Amino acid sequence: MRKSRILGTGSELAENKVSNRDLAKIVDTNDEWIVSRTGIETRYFASPETSTSGLATKAAKKALEAAGIDAADIDLIIVATITPDMGFPATACLVQEQIGAVKAAAFDLEAACSGFIYGMAVADQFISTGFYNHVLVIGAETMSRILDMKDRNTCVLFGDGAGAVVMGPAEGDNHIKSFHLGADGSGGKFLYMPAGGSKMPSSHETVDNRLHFVKMGGTDVFKFAVRTMESSSITAVEKAGLEVNQIDYMVPHQANIRIIQAAAKKLNLPMEKVQVNLNHYGNMSAASIPVALDEAFRENKFKKDDHVLLVGFGAGLTWASCVIKW
Ligand code: UT7
Repeated sequence: MRKSRILGTGSELAENKVSNRDLAKIVDTNDEWIVSRTGIETRYFASPETSTSGLATKAAKKALEAAGIDAADIDLIIVATITPDMGFPATACLVQEQIGAVKAAAFDLEAACSGFIYGMAVADQFISTGFYNHVLVIGAETMSRILDMKDRNTCVLFGDGAGAVVMGPAEGDNHIKSFHLGADGSGGKFLYMPAGGSKMPSSHETVDNRLHFVKMGGTDVFKFAVRTMESSSITAVEKAGLEVNQIDYMVPHQANIRIIQAAAKKLNLPMEKVQVNLNHYGNMSAASIPVALDEAFRENKFKKDDHVLLVGFGAGLTWASCVIKW
């Protein structure tokens, strides 16, 4: 079986920078609470005319350019998102048209904040078997569209953006070493959007009751996150035939600085080896990891042969990790 690797990365943020003080004007919160409880200082919200596919397309074009791959040579596009442009068609199909990836198959994948690593794992399977050569994996969200701006427990946490990678076959030893994916549907009740699907179709009542917005049990998700970031990371590292002390750099999901610090401590990784951008962008769900990965790469945080760990968790509940020899 051949191996896969990342050929290029790209990312795009939404247009409008929103500070904690801006939010404090519309909801009962304050900068001190948000910074001390989450580490978030600003986030970006999309303009009304921008949707998830628009952000995804811009990130994809940058990743293609970085990889030196023509859109016409992409075999498959996977968009990980919980905020698709619409119920259907898939946002991946909209991106396919916008970038001109004429021969690519395209579908969306939904595993919330773990979705990007899930997408990479799917791409890796297609590349390993030789079924496809070049797969574009995108994590893209406009979380601002599903935030209840009257719910201070959630509306301060999230932001909008997109990150993308082009994956292709690897030669030599620098390739993706392992994945670990998991889910526990019994935790679905801790993070969800009740209405708009087949169980509770949209109606005047669902809108009046604010059921088209994110609902979250923050404490439950917090405990799950710290536990899972550690266990999933360790499993992926072991599957890669490594020890945790051989990890050179971690790119975690960007939900809360306290979650990241707790996970880093459990894994004995100093914070200098951890990519953090949530202070600027908040939690961009499926876009968090690819945007952080793109930034880390462009900031030269990885050296050749470094072992890079990606790890995320999210609604589902889901979790996912990946070890790459860069
Ligand atoms: O991608 C996965 C997405 N989700 C997550 O990763 C979320 C994981 N959970 C968390 O990050 C944290 O649980 C939160 C940041 C959501 C909350 O932090 P916490 O330290 O667990 O706070 P809490 O929920 O225990 O709330 C403490 C207090 C409450 O007030 P009372 O009941 O003690 O009077 C909240 O009402 O803080 C209050 N509070 C706020 N106050 C000001 C909650 N949100 C806010 C706010 N501004 N935005």
